Amino acid sequence: MQKVRVLFIGDIIGRTGRRIVKETLPSLKAKYEINITIANGENSAGGFGMTQEVASELFETGIDVITTGNHIWDKKEIIPFFDKNPSLLRPLNFPDNLPGKGFVRLDNLVNVPFFVVNLQGKILMPPINCPFAAMDNFLKSIPDTKRIVIVDFHAEATSEKRALGFYLDGKISLLLGTHTHIPTKDAEILPLGTGYITDVGMSGAKDSVIGMKKENSIKKIITGIPMPLEVAKNDPVFSAIFAEIDSETGKCLQIEHIYTTTKNIE
Ligand SMILES: [Fe+2]
Ligand SMILES: [Fe+2]
Repeated sequence: MQKVRVLFIGDIIGRTGRRIVKETLPSLKAKYEINITIANGENSAGGFGMTQEVASELFETGIDVITTGNHIWDKKEIIPFFDKNPSLLRPLNFPDNLPGKGFVRLDNLVNVPFFVVNLQGKILMPPINCPFAAMDNFLKSIPDTKRIVIVDFHAEATSEKRALGFYLDGKISLLLGTHTHIPTKDAEILPLGTGYITDVGMSGAKDSVIGMKKENSIKKIITGIPMPLEVAKNDPVFSAIFAEIDSETGKCLQIEHIYTTTKNIE
């Protein structure tokens, strides 16, 4: 049995998030003897979307696969990068004719086929194809044994995340929630062996409203009038999941939420 050790970093928010990831990653990867690192990058450029420069920076930092979500098209200059690097994903259940792909298969890092899938929720989110049906179709297209499948489920509703977790229990190795930027305390192994958390939480400033400066976020919520939102800097936190997976069975052996703080920028 080979144990595959995975690190999954939640939504990285702007420069604050990139800085804490860069600072934290080398020692964490050494401590946990990580084989594969995945991160959600949908907010990594200025808090909204990504650029080619920022995506390249994240890959150079030591991230093997970048997942995204509803903010992926905020900076359209990222679009040509999908053809250059298949390890940058957009949700699988977007319409098929959109740029990019919703999954990647990695064969060179561990001893079994290793799939990372990006999915987006349909409750309290922009209209999208059904994530449950998209996963049914995806699982029919890959071998049903001796493979590892990690899913980033980018969704707002905790109920939808719990439901998809149980729906896929025993069929995939990990279902990790992203998008709310707030970590939940329910990292666990579900009854049939799938590692699960409702939301990993962000890497960004805790002294904020989900990563952005508080003042305009509060005004925007009170008035409903759009306000410019800026990435916050104070009280940076790093939020991730460490999981160990049995490559023979694809089941999760261990799951742990990692939440660390660091000093402010400047
Ligand atoms: Fe996000
Ligand atoms: Fe999102």
